[in-house]
Amino acid sequence: MAQRWVSAWHDVRVSEEQHKSDNRGRPVTEEFRAFVATDWAPRTSAKPVLAEVAPYAAERRAAVSAAFPGERLVIPAGGLKVRNNDCDYIFRPHTAFAHLTGLGGDREPDAVLVLEPLDDGSHESILYFRPLAGRATEEFFGDSRYGEFWVGARPGLADIEGELALSARHIDEFTEAVGKDVGSTGIRIVRDADRELTQALDALREGSAGSTESELLREADDELAHFLSTLRLVKDEWEIGQMREAIKVTANGFDAVIAGLPEALERGRGERWVEGVFGLHARHQGNGVGYDSICAAGDHANTLHWIKNTGDITDGDLLLLDAGVEVDSLFTADITRTLPVNGHFTEAQRKVYDAVFAAQEAGIAAVKPGAKFSDVHDAAIRVIAEHLHAWGLLPDGIDVEATLDKEHGQYHRRWMVHGTSHHLGLDVHDCALARREEYMGADLAPGMILTVEPGLYFKADDLLAPPELRGIGVRIEDDILVTSDGCENLSADMPRTSTDVEAWIANIPKD
Ligand code: GLY
Ligand code: MN
Ligand code: MN
Repeated sequence: MAQRWVSAWHDVRVSEEQHKSDNRGRPVTEEFRAFVATDWAPRTSAKPVLAEVAPYAAERRAAVSAAFPGERLVIPAGGLKVRNNDCDYIFRPHTAFAHLTGLGGDREPDAVLVLEPLDDGSHESILYFRPLAGRATEEFFGDSRYGEFWVGARPGLADIEGELALSARHIDEFTEAVGKDVGSTGIRIVRDADRELTQALDALREGSAGSTESELLREADDELAHFLSTLRLVKDEWEIGQMREAIKVTANGFDAVIAGLPEALERGRGERWVEGVFGLHARHQGNGVGYDSICAAGDHANTLHWIKNTGDITDGDLLLLDAGVEVDSLFTADITRTLPVNGHFTEAQRKVYDAVFAAQEAGIAAVKPGAKFSDVHDAAIRVIAEHLHAWGLLPDGIDVEATLDKEHGQYHRRWMVHGTSHHLGLDVHDCALARREEYMGADLAPGMILTVEPGLYFKADDLLAPPELRGIGVRIEDDILVTSDGCENLSADMPRTSTDVEAWIANIPKD
């Protein structure tokens, strides 16, 4: 049984590699093999850079262990994803894996965390991964995907044990260990982390004596994924620290974009320039961007997820920049500022901006323990509706209450179709598997971090919008921590009022 399951998983991975023709190979002589393996300095062991997160990750695993006693829990990091031919995307581990191990960016492709049930009802945490190969192996010099000559040195088993305070084993031991008592020990896997591994494990579980129906297996897996997603609803002290760092360096990225605005205008293709400038700082000060930056000038701001960033920026435009740095631990900020690129809002731009600001203030004021998550949106959207009504944009006979009516109103959504808030953390839209009653319908609790991001969007071709508002799109987005008696705006250092935004642009020396 174990043998069949071993080959099932490995075959899929390996067969993809073997389909490529060997048209660029070099001869590997015995002489070269012997020569390349010798005369290297002793390896130095990796620094325990993650020691700080280890106790927090252990506490998270303990919560998972308590929820699933007696069951084997499989949380893969996922593998490298092909971008084209033999080039992979930069690796990013599955979020649940990152959360439970503390391993951040670029670590460790093909690793699998297993919570192995123990007799006393607890679990042993074991990280199976592909450790650094010895210098006498073909991998050392010949494996362009994993070899040290090609992609650099990876940690060894002892490095990981020292760094993360859990057990580490070679990935080659994984299949045997996981399949050894299938049928008598319940096994759950995080399904979306590693497609091939999940398929192979499905085949193993379904084929085992007394097999469970695949539907039930899936439900059991989904229950695990749901638990892991909601485990992140309330952030621990270390996570909050990481979020503060992500927000701090994101602010630096916005400063750099402002410094580069004249150049962005002058060069043309300015949205691309802005994306690059922010990306440079994200990569320099963190792991990279936490999501594709939205660098939307003029009417592009009215396309909510404008990530093409292919446009020009011209004098008089507003630039809506929605961007966040993901720090090395993979926690990300998610911040939006809408900037008049020449430093001054027009009257019409300011009118829209100030309305959005008022809505955001109302939303932030609603963030406190015991309030419902949905109260934040309700507070912000009421202010949006009030402004639209005051400006005469709602249909005749529709007042604020009528448009806010959830059954028969909602006319205001034409100009703000999205929600005001989402949880934020390792994923930009964090805790995505939480059920509605655990998310929108849940009480806010200290340690939660959410965005408050109202907007108003008047498309250039919107015939219901007054001509002077057409082509104006504004969003203001901040990252808010729920505290014991209210909230803290973690991104409050970044100017938010129209006056402060103008002063910000004026005060940053330009490149
Ligand atoms: N950046 C995507 C969002 O604000 O949700
Ligand atoms: Mn957001
Ligand atoms: Mn955003």
